[in-house]
Amino acid sequence: MSTSTINKMSCVVLNNGIEMPLLGLGTFLLQSPDITTITEAALRQGYRLIDTAAVYRNEHSIGQVLKKTGAFNVHRDDVFITSKLGKFKAIGISNYTVQHIKELLEYCSVVPAVLQIEAHPYLIQKSLREFCEKKGIHVQAYSSIGSRSGCKELLSDPTVMKIAEYHNKTCAQILLRWAIEHGMSVIPKTSNLGRLKENMDIFDFSLTSEQLQKLDNLDKHKHFCWNPEDIK
Ligand SMILES: NC(=O)c1ccc[n+]([C@@H]2O[C@H](COP(=O)([O-])OP(=O)(O)OC[C@H]3O[C@@H](n4cnc5c(N)ncnc54)[C@H](OP(=O)(O)O)[C@@H]3O)[C@@H](O)[C@H]2O)c1
Repeated sequence: MSTSTINKMSCVVLNNGIEMPLLGLGTFLLQSPDITTITEAALRQGYRLIDTAAVYRNEHSIGQVLKKTGAFNVHRDDVFITSKLGKFKAIGISNYTVQHIKELLEYCSVVPAVLQIEAHPYLIQKSLREFCEKKGIHVQAYSSIGSRSGCKELLSDPTVMKIAEYHNKTCAQILLRWAIEHGMSVIPKTSNLGRLKENMDIFDFSLTSEQLQKLDNLDKHKHFCWNPEDIK
C-alpha cells in the first residue's frame, strides 16, 4: 500500500473500500479494570481502532465500553475492531509469510484486506511488504515498540535516539512513524495513559528519506515475538 493512499484523516482505504485507521490500540495483556480505563481514554483521545482477540480475554470489557460510545461523542460505526471471529467488515490474516499468502491465494475467493505482522526497524519485512503491496493487501505492524521483551532494546537504539532528538519526539514515536512512513498501520499497546497520548502524536512530522534509510539499515531479522517462517 503506497503512502499516497493514506488520507489526511489518517486512515487507509482497504481493497474492499473500507476505511481503517492507521493507528489503533493494542490490548494484549490488558485486563479488567485497566482495559476499561485505557479503552475509554483511547476513544476520548481519538483512537478509533482496537485490536483484540478471544485469547486476550478482554473482549467482554471492550464490548461493554463500546456499548456506551455515545458518552464519549463517538459513533460505534466509526470504531474499527480487529478480532478473530464473528461478523466483520474486512478479512484480515496474521503472521503469514509470502509463501503462506501464495498458498492461500490459490484457493481463497476473497483476497484478504489486511496482513498483521511483527514489524519494526530490527525486522523491516521488506519483501513481504512489497509482495502485499502488489496484491493490494494492507500491512499492519504489531510490536512496533519491540513488545515487552524488546522495547528496552529498540527504545535505546542510538540511531533511533538520534532521530528522536532531531525531531524532538520520543523514540517510541519514531518507531511508530517509521511504520507509517512505510504505509503500514500500527497498534501500539500501552497500559499507561501518558503513553496512550504519546503514541497518538505521530502525525505532525515526517522522517526524511535519509532517516528512513538509516532505520531500515538496522534490520537484523530479529523477531521479539515469534517467527512464523517456521510454519510450513
Ligand atoms: N497477531 C499477533 O500474533 C499479535 C502478536 C503480538 C501482538 N499483537 C497485537 O499488537 C499489539 C502491540 O504489540 P505488543 O503488545 O507485542 O508490543 P508493542 O506495542 O510494541 O509494545 C508494548 C510495550 O511497549 C510499552 N510501551 C508502549 N508505548 C510506549 C511508549 N510510548 N514508550 C515506552 N514504552 C511504551 C508497553 O508498556 P506499557 O503498557 O507499560 O506502556 C509494552 O510493554 C498487541 O497488544 C496486540 O494487540 C498481535
